[in-house]
Amino acid sequence: MQKFIDEISQAKSLAELESARLALLGKKGVITEGFSKLKELNGDEKKALAESLNKARDEANELLASKKAELEEKEANEALIKDGVDVSLFNEPSLRGAMHPVMATMDKIIDYFVAQNFSVETGPLIEDDFHNFEALNLPKYHPARDMQDTFYLRDFRLLRTHTSPVQIRTMQAKKPPIRMIAPGAVFRRDLDLTHTPMFHQIEGLVVEEGDKISFANLKDILQNFLVYMFGDVKVRFRPSFFPFTEPSTEVDISCIFCKGCGCRVCKQTGWLEVLGSGIVDENVFKAVGYSGVSGYAFGLGVERLAMLLHRIPDLRSLFEGDLRLLEQFR
Ligand code: PHE
Repeated sequence: MQKFIDEISQAKSLAELESARLALLGKKGVITEGFSKLKELNGDEKKALAESLNKARDEANELLASKKAELEEKEANEALIKDGVDVSLFNEPSLRGAMHPVMATMDKIIDYFVAQNFSVETGPLIEDDFHNFEALNLPKYHPARDMQDTFYLRDFRLLRTHTSPVQIRTMQAKKPPIRMIAPGAVFRRDLDLTHTPMFHQIEGLVVEEGDKISFANLKDILQNFLVYMFGDVKVRFRPSFFPFTEPSTEVDISCIFCKGCGCRVCKQTGWLEVLGSGIVDENVFKAVGYSGVSGYAFGLGVERLAMLLHRIPDLRSLFEGDLRLLEQFR
């Protein structure tokens, strides 16, 4: 019997342990066969053998269990070492991703306005006529709707053509004072060197009770913002028209490529148009049920600013996913 017990304790693998177990407790094992001999015996002899067999079986089982656990752990550890990954091995470097220049520009703009206490609001990309046009003082059949070539859905909803509907949604949801920006994608039926059917805008809206907000507040924030974005540039406010602002201005900066001397990018004018803005039209406040308030609004194209910042000549290249362009922004 001791011989078998030794075999168990000396087993070096689970396979060896299993054969030691079979030699004792298998169908033809010594203990099993011992039990089958019991029926040939009687009285004290039978009792003595039964006791010693039971004892041997219990000891063997106990030993088998602890040895099994020990060997399992050992084999698992060996497998870890054998199949393990050597993290210090040389490998082809994997490509590192980067922020897309449009999103990086967006973040840079958002950072500025958040630091000026503007909240960041969002709205749906699929809009209705009221929020995208009507409430922004663009009644049906108003010729200014032609400024924005609209994608319509079959149910008369539309893809928003600008972020201005978020002005309306925010004013409907909150009371003044309001100090918000709304970044996001917008859609227009247009495609050429300077237009893509999807692009990004950032809207700004500030509303206060009474007549606290004047054109001077608008000039101040935009002037400082444009210097933050482009460094030492001159800023010019040029009279323009938007249905939702009165008066309206387009804002130009002195050309960052020729410092205002005149070049191809600024079409020899020395100026680059960068955003639209104005004092919020009374009709817009009326549409959201506001009265006795004043405010300014502005809207800018993120791709346009990204192109100027990085001197990217063709807007479409921002959306082609060409690694040769994107790699330059790592
Ligand atoms: N929504 C205008 C556009 O898309 C931009 C704008 C916003 C102008 C707010 C004035 C005030 O062209």
